[in-house]
Amino acid sequence: MKVVLASDHAGFEIKEKVKDYLMDKNIEVLDVGAFSEESVDYPVFAFKAGEAINQHKADYAIIFCGTGEGISIAINKVKGIRCGVAYDDEVTRLLREHNNANAVAFGARFMKEEDILRRIDIFLNTEFLGGRHQKRLDLISDYEK
Ligand code: RB5
Repeated sequence: MKVVLASDHAGFEIKEKVKDYLMDKNIEVLDVGAFSEESVDYPVFAFKAGEAINQHKADYAIIFCGTGEGISIAINKVKGIRCGVAYDDEVTRLLREHNNANAVAFGARFMKEEDILRRIDIFLNTEFLGGRHQKRLDLISDYEK
């Protein structure tokens, strides 16, 4: 499994911690920035992460900004990306089981590190259920065309 990480300045610190956390688990990581706490624009990094998935450089994107919302909105503009903000453990599980999310966003200024790390484990270890949920995802991809 390979994961692409992205953040803006607000998410930089937790992105670095998550990078170490994933590398300790022998998960391959592609970091597309930001690379410091200097103020940057989150869409730039969201698009890089989404494109990395479409170019098969990563299976999943894990992304961070202050709220999780802006970077999630931006990555969802990349064709084929399904991202949600993981504000709860059960919601994180359902993001995979029902929505087959290939990206997950966190709000560095509103979420605790321990919650973020636990939800990353949930996200990466939960399978899509398919069935009736696939039909709904097909409606989204049909609309994208
Ligand atoms: C940056 O100040 C902040 O707006 C950004 O990190 C994010 O929360 C936007 O949605």
